[in-house]
Amino acid sequence: MNAEQSLQLKLEKRIQENALRDLKTVNGLIDFSSNDYLGFSRDFSFVEHAGGVGGSTGSRLLTGNTIEVVELEVFIAEYHKADAGLLYNSGYDANIGLLSCVPQRGDTVIYDELSHASIIDGIRLCKAESFKFKHNNVEHLESRLQSVKGNVYVVVESVYSMDGDFSPLEELVSLKQKFDFNLIVDEAHATGLFGKKGEGRCVELNIQNQIFARVHTYGKAMGCHGAVVLGSSILKDYLVNFSRSFIYTTALPISSVATIKMAYEKMIDIDFSSLIYRDLVNLFKEKIKVLNLAYSIPSCSPIQTIIVSGNDKVKHVADGLQKSLFDVRPILSPTVPKGKERLRICLHEFNTPSEVESLIHILSKLL
Ligand SMILES: Cc1ncc(COP(=O)(O)O)c(C=O)c1O
Repeated sequence: MNAEQSLQLKLEKRIQENALRDLKTVNGLIDFSSNDYLGFSRDFSFVEHAGGVGGSTGSRLLTGNTIEVVELEVFIAEYHKADAGLLYNSGYDANIGLLSCVPQRGDTVIYDELSHASIIDGIRLCKAESFKFKHNNVEHLESRLQSVKGNVYVVVESVYSMDGDFSPLEELVSLKQKFDFNLIVDEAHATGLFGKKGEGRCVELNIQNQIFARVHTYGKAMGCHGAVVLGSSILKDYLVNFSRSFIYTTALPISSVATIKMAYEKMIDIDFSSLIYRDLVNLFKEKIKVLNLAYSIPSCSPIQTIIVSGNDKVKHVADGLQKSLFDVRPILSPTVPKGKERLRICLHEFNTPSEVESLIHILSKLL
């Protein structure tokens, strides 16, 4: 079998499982799918003011380290009450770059089983031993912590990307009194949503000083692109020297740096206590309860999940919603475990109560 035949075979298996991924263009339907929770990406003033369309010309260690990016990192660190911050080109790069180089041979990494692929891939690249623990199950984590060696890193997401639920961060911080470990928190889906100024859940809970590293991404509620790793200045210096996805890549273009700064300025102006999406979440939950579905995952975040087991079934329901002009995408296995295929419904600041009600009405006919 030649190379292309072997690739074709893998693709055919995906087709048989109705799990083939293809690239769909933006469809202009009512958005219940994107991570643009606050609608920032729709604000074209970002683009007009971002300034400069050229690339950054080199990696940060060579010609890509502009004064703008240096100042932005200082600003970001202060915003999130951290000592230091290091920008990466994406959240994927940030997790890979952090987790591949910080845990060393002889160390231990323990991560939540529902961690994002970028966390898992980063851990795969490091030389430490790694174990997963059952989702949000502190007891199981505790049992894992009984037999560890070296420096120990526990990795969680403050809001889980596919389930929308919260990590029990306060319990994890308390557990640090019993076991010596370093907590790493991916705040991708909390950035721009939680905290008085969208600083994330660690700041909201005032536990930021207990966290070894935090990862914030800009492609979700902040409507732009890129990510930052927050932590001590030693961590930052270490990453600058050893984090390969930081070192060996062209730095973010100046337009991205300017856009991230603008997104922060926009957040400063928001009254986070009166965001509309929270009312939509409550409305959604109230209406969905009436449907008496076998299984939906409790979530207080804008990510709401309805389990529709089986790739065929979940695709069918999502197709039906799209035909009714609602952009809801099916999340298939193997992205989520078999049997846990789902509709991942994101509620945004720009959605309306009547859109939510119509969505659930159509859904009730399709399920
Ligand atoms: C929890 C989590 N971490 C990291 C990432 C990666 O972020 P980015 O899209 O900026 O690469 C994502 C995005 O899907 C995510 O959901």
